[in-house]
Amino acid sequence: MTGSERPHFEITGEVPPCATDGIWLTCIACGEQFAPFDAVRYTCDDCNGLLEVRYADLPRWDEFEGRGVWRYASVLPFETGVSLPEGGTPLHDVPRLENDLGVNRLRIKHEGMNPTGSFKDRGMTVGVRVAQEMGVDRLACASTGNTSAALAAYGSRAGLETLVLLPRGKVAAGKIAQASCHGARILEVDGNFDVCLDIVGDLADRGDVYLLNSLNPFRLEGQKTIGLEILEQFRDEEGTYPDRIVLPVGNAGNTAALYKCFRELVASGALDETDVPKLTGVQAEGAAPMVEAIEDGRAETRRWESVETRATAIRIGNPVNAPKALPGIRETGGTAVAVSDEEIRAAQRDLAEEGVGVEPASAASVAGLRRLRKRGDVSREERVVCLTTGHLLKDPDAAVEAGAEPEPVSGTNEGVRKHLGLGGE
Ligand code: F0G
Repeated sequence: MTGSERPHFEITGEVPPCATDGIWLTCIACGEQFAPFDAVRYTCDDCNGLLEVRYADLPRWDEFEGRGVWRYASVLPFETGVSLPEGGTPLHDVPRLENDLGVNRLRIKHEGMNPTGSFKDRGMTVGVRVAQEMGVDRLACASTGNTSAALAAYGSRAGLETLVLLPRGKVAAGKIAQASCHGARILEVDGNFDVCLDIVGDLADRGDVYLLNSLNPFRLEGQKTIGLEILEQFRDEEGTYPDRIVLPVGNAGNTAALYKCFRELVASGALDETDVPKLTGVQAEGAAPMVEAIEDGRAETRRWESVETRATAIRIGNPVNAPKALPGIRETGGTAVAVSDEEIRAAQRDLAEEGVGVEPASAASVAGLRRLRKRGDVSREERVVCLTTGHLLKDPDAAVEAGAEPEPVSGTNEGVRKHLGLGGE
């Protein structure tokens, strides 16, 4: 799974002298290694490549204990973190949707059931713990909304100052409400998410804030527990591993985190290479640089300056984790697909009809699976897990738009009976 053309993706467990307690950072581009907590760094000092957290101890199923993210403490940088607690999310059955899509098995891993309503909590519980270790006092992120909600909640729980940069007019109401109520300082930037990230990246490089976007490799450590949980839950309930995991893609942090999860498990021998699920990314048609790179066979994404979709969480034109995520999609035998806003809306309704309430970006996973089934790229025999990343109530406006119209009636028995077409009396 780690092609020889990408030697620095190899997880070996060979401990370099810079390691602290068996933990270090490796640059995936040039292989340079760094001590984990000696200085604040987000990318490689030498080549600016993306960093990955590496461990002397590789994952073993029998050492996991408890529930949620910290069940997997043995493969995280700390034993515990600032916790609300997070993880341990449901893996829903959706029998009607499964039948309708025509796959052997379909389960929905609903990350909207985390404390602030999205998977970002998994990254923040670890990231904020690292921030404490580094002794910083001001945390910051650029966000399409969910990261800012999680940062605000976990930061304030840790007693730290939080600053969030949001694209003005493009963040769902529930997310702004969360960031605001948890006490973040909110800057509404005249620009899209990618512009926000450029600006906060500059603040972080100057040492004015500690960056908790997914460029920070420690955040992805928390998010890799999604993969560990899916594999354990699916194996326990289905007796096997899923063939494919379909997930919405924005900055491609989750895709990168799942790929790392699989590489660690394969390196330790806990997972056979043939059991690695195919990572399948879904983007909105109006913001699909990852899909473009996969379709064109390119090693890098092209920055889309202009992006638009109703799924505002994934309204992103410059996915910073592409160098980690593109190899993940390719080497697991997965693919990437773009879907329209109308397909996303329909998938949001499909899930809602099964009682599973998700925000638009999350429904993209199911919309993508439907496309791939139609195209014949996913076979009827497959066992699939779709990741739904955020809760329905994150974006109340989109929910109302996708749902039925409320009907005004008079406040009388007679009026309501009449409206319902029921007889008198
Ligand atoms: N789904 C939801 C609900 C999200 O909020 C995000 C990203 C994604 C999917 C994409 O995940 O970036 O790991 O590929 N939201 C970020 C934010 C950008 O600021 O909340 P990814």
